[in-house]
Amino acid sequence: MRRKFVAGNWKMHGLKAQLKEIESIAATATAKPGVDVAICVPFTLIAPAVAAVPGFAIGAQDVHESGSGAHTGCISAEMLKEAGATLVIVGHSERRADQHETSHDAWAKAAAARAAGLHVILCCGETEEERDAGETDRVVAAQIAEIPSDARGDWLTIAYEPRWAIGTGKTPTEAEIAATHGAIRAKVQELAGADAADTIRILYGGSMNPANAAAILALSDVDGGLVGGASLTAEKFVPIIEAAAG
Ligand code: PGA
Repeated sequence: MRRKFVAGNWKMHGLKAQLKEIESIAATATAKPGVDVAICVPFTLIAPAVAAVPGFAIGAQDVHESGSGAHTGCISAEMLKEAGATLVIVGHSERRADQHETSHDAWAKAAAARAAGLHVILCCGETEEERDAGETDRVVAAQIAEIPSDARGDWLTIAYEPRWAIGTGKTPTEAEIAATHGAIRAKVQELAGADAADTIRILYGGSMNPANAAAILALSDVDGGLVGGASLTAEKFVPIIEAAAG
């Protein structure tokens, strides 16, 4: 049985003044032991957030694939770990678009994070043109093709985020979400076996909000959510956590 997992992605939002939101969110999460909750913050907020809510899972939104070196502006998995992060997002579509990251890059980052003992949320998802062309399953399968054959849910989570649904207020239909999650799980099984398919959680992301969360989280093969805009305040994120807790 996979526990539900709800992760906030704060993107380039968050100064110390917003730590009070994390404190409220963490208080709810502690009161709902049936669901795993995390917030992935900007690098600068990792250590202050960990200090504010000890024991609550704080993550990052990117990591470099190398342990150290001449990579101006980048950050290593060990640095994230030392700051107190326990997880990291890799391969988010905004990084694929803005920093031209590939799926190969995302899996290299995942390997570096795993080696440092960080949990990984690896993102995949199609563009609107790809969906309209009936290419969703093919695109997503290609994005996860480099999953290691020994991957398991203790270090890896996959987030399915249709690019056209991120920050737009648009979502696929419930049937479409369930179908894509089922296709991802089947691909994980094909590539990494039944233990991987049974243990790796597949989150839905893209305009999840308090109004649609319960219905999406109830779909088969949806093990939680990766939430952007609606994770920035306790007012909006707490109802999503409560929906996941059932
Ligand atoms: P959104 O972002 O919830 O604001 O659509 C989700 C994400 O990009 O992870």
